[in-house]
Amino acid sequence: LLRGDSPRFRINTTNKYLLSSNFCSRAALEAQGSCLNNKYSEGYPGKRYYGGAEVVDQIELLCQKRALEAFDLDPEHWGVNVQPYSGSPANLAAYTAVLKPHDRLMGLDLPDGGHLTHGYMSDVKRVSATSIYFESMPYKLDPKTGLIDYDQMEMTAKLFRPRLIIAGTSAYARLIDYARVKKLCTELNAYLLADMAHISGLVAAKAIPSPFDHADLVTTTTHKSLRGARAGLIFYRKGVRSVDKKGGEVLYDLEDKVNFSVFPSLQGGPHNHAIAGVAVALRQANTPMFKEYIAQVIKNAKAMANALLKKGYTLVSGGTDNHLVLVDLRPQGMDGARAERVLELVSITANKNTCPGDKSALTPGGLRLGAPALTSRHFKEAEFQQVVEFLDEGFKIALDVKKKTSELTRHLSNHHLWKLLQL
Ligand SMILES: *Cc1c(COP(=O)(O)O)cnc(C)c1O
Ligand SMILES: *[C@@H]1O[C@H](CO)[C@@H](O)[C@H](O)[C@H]1NC(C)=O
Repeated sequence: LLRGDSPRFRINTTNKYLLSSNFCSRAALEAQGSCLNNKYSEGYPGKRYYGGAEVVDQIELLCQKRALEAFDLDPEHWGVNVQPYSGSPANLAAYTAVLKPHDRLMGLDLPDGGHLTHGYMSDVKRVSATSIYFESMPYKLDPKTGLIDYDQMEMTAKLFRPRLIIAGTSAYARLIDYARVKKLCTELNAYLLADMAHISGLVAAKAIPSPFDHADLVTTTTHKSLRGARAGLIFYRKGVRSVDKKGGEVLYDLEDKVNFSVFPSLQGGPHNHAIAGVAVALRQANTPMFKEYIAQVIKNAKAMANALLKKGYTLVSGGTDNHLVLVDLRPQGMDGARAERVLELVSITANKNTCPGDKSALTPGGLRLGAPALTSRHFKEAEFQQVVEFLDEGFKIALDVKKKTSELTRHLSNHHLWKLLQL
């Protein structure tokens, strides 16, 4: 049970999750698994292309209201679209709302901790649709500090002149300087979109600085630190955007654009069952219990970071300010792929991850470890120290296996393999 509350909060699993995944409450899962799955309702509340949507309308309006309340937003200044199917569709819809095809955007590069949908392309291929339909330019971490290189971002942005800059991360243990990115956006007349998918639970609990203080648009998933049913949200600003040289007010026109982009441009019928699940989760996120949960997530991530440092491991950026820790295993002569596999065999689910300077995404040097899931299972600092004991043991086994297998392959190539080939 989560803090001895009603049995409807019961969660049940045997795996030890150390990643972006989390355990959604039973109440939210019940709403998501309900007959709302069956109803089509293209359109928006009061403006549907289907009859029989009275209840669905109320649920969607309730979900919008709770989304604004969960992040303490004034409906005068912010609106929200709760129909995106997940985080990636939410991002594509937000970009489609404010960009024309081939307009320019900038986001943190995927190997540096950004998300695919922040315009990712490799050296040889436009990988994400967000780099196929738009022109993207990445910004990067400073490889020495493991922190976002804002100086380089500013220099590149002034040359590239993007219409949109994305501030958001999937594998970054530090806080984002939204004010600094906003200043740059204002200079360039670009939109600032904050993608808070990973940290939205921390934002809702007011445990870290809020992107809503600076961003024009905020996207998020609902199933990571926010601990809800799987879906996506797009928040957009309303009211005055800027004042022109003659003192005239320039208003935001994001509401229509975002609505139109989500439906009918990119999606058909909204997933009403998911919207209901999110509405339940958003109500739960707006409780003192959830605040306590997030405070514990942050304490646990710090405990995990400190225990790893004590054992001599290297952390990207040297520590954590949020819910996750990035271990750089390269100094141990290890990689994240082998470590992930060994941990998987003992029911610890972690996630291999690139570190700054990594060449291969298949055998990257790092491992991403998130505290939200095990904190949902009531782990506290002491339990996370025990988790680090297990991780340390796993890393050592992986290193031992690596040594033995590389000896074996050397042996094979030198003797047996050569003999086999001669036959
Ligand atoms: C997870 C994530 C997404 C995408 O969410 P999906 O629901 O997996 O599509 C987008 N942005 C960031 C920063 C994420 O971490
Ligand atoms: C846009 O969508 C929001 C949220 O679904 C809704 O409240 C609003 O009325 C819509 N606005 C327009 C102009 O259709």
